[in-house]
Amino acid sequence: MLVNFVTDEPGKIPAIRAMLEPQFRILPHVLQNDDPRTGASGLLMVDADLRRTDSVERLKRVLQIERTNPEKMFVVPDHLHVMIAQAYALGATAVVSRPREIMSKLAQFANEQKAAQSDADIVSPETGSSAAAFASMFSTAREGKPIDLVDAEHATVQIINGVTRNGFNNWLDEVRRHHEGTFQHCLLVTGIAVGFALDIGFGEADVRRLGLSATLHDIGKARIPLAVLDKPGRLDPAEEEIMRRHPAIGYDMLKDIPGISREALDGVRHHHEYLDGSGYPDGLTAPDISDLVRLLTIADIFAALIEIRSYRPAMSRTDAYKILCGMDGKLERALVKAFQRVALGGTTPALQPR
Ligand SMILES: [Fe+2]
Ligand SMILES: [Fe+2]
Repeated sequence: MLVNFVTDEPGKIPAIRAMLEPQFRILPHVLQNDDPRTGASGLLMVDADLRRTDSVERLKRVLQIERTNPEKMFVVPDHLHVMIAQAYALGATAVVSRPREIMSKLAQFANEQKAAQSDADIVSPETGSSAAAFASMFSTAREGKPIDLVDAEHATVQIINGVTRNGFNNWLDEVRRHHEGTFQHCLLVTGIAVGFALDIGFGEADVRRLGLSATLHDIGKARIPLAVLDKPGRLDPAEEEIMRRHPAIGYDMLKDIPGISREALDGVRHHHEYLDGSGYPDGLTAPDISDLVRLLTIADIFAALIEIRSYRPAMSRTDAYKILCGMDGKLERALVKAFQRVALGGTTPALQPR
């Protein structure tokens, strides 16, 4: 089990390592730094002076990270009631003092995590199948072969089924738990776009149309070098320039495929355009951006914000939605408002044949 050990005293790290390794994997973080990032996974173990306001303020920032394991164990010196109270105020799930207590709590958490993990390891058939279809589509594209629309349609239908049968929130959590990188992103964008379309009452044919566009939207990334595509952290300006080519690359890959719809091509090429003309690749403005693309862009940005990446914490759905709300002028205000229920975890209505 991974233990994120957060402390304000680097000197405590060797002792905690000596006590807990190799039974537990320790990832130390020192609160002196401005922005200690602990990652979203693993248990959080805090050993800091909670009487110091600077430590408490820094800790609050760490605690805002949405964690896959919600356990937060605080180590406090014996009888320091003020620190015990502060630990619980910060959301502690356990407060311990002695090494023996630390070991037994950690063992208990590890057992609980193992039990929860075996439940979480069950992947629904729809998610497994859509992920496999995505993998096949991307490897075909990477090899320079033409995209098979049947693969893309299959992936889309599986995602629609996954969202409608399992419920949008469960589906979202499952994808974030089991998939990484570009696959995770494409699955999420499609599921979010589908969830949004269902929520605002799209008929079955329109849900499928939007879903297919979302499935294919980043296919151009299959031709972006992996060193850029999978780079952990921010891209430099030259890499950013390469990455910004993916909508046009995707469009070129698909435009001659017999039977591909105008809407799908529109979504692939224009999902990074903004109403105020500041997007790319064509710098379109509001009159030239279709409703479907407006919706897809919202799903794309929201998915990128809430994705779980190994190198940065996932943003909460609430914070991601706040960012969308702050993009007034770029995104359609009425659509962002309508997206609120889906973004913040409302229910997904059933598919309406039309
Ligand atoms: Fe994109
Ligand atoms: Fe995207």
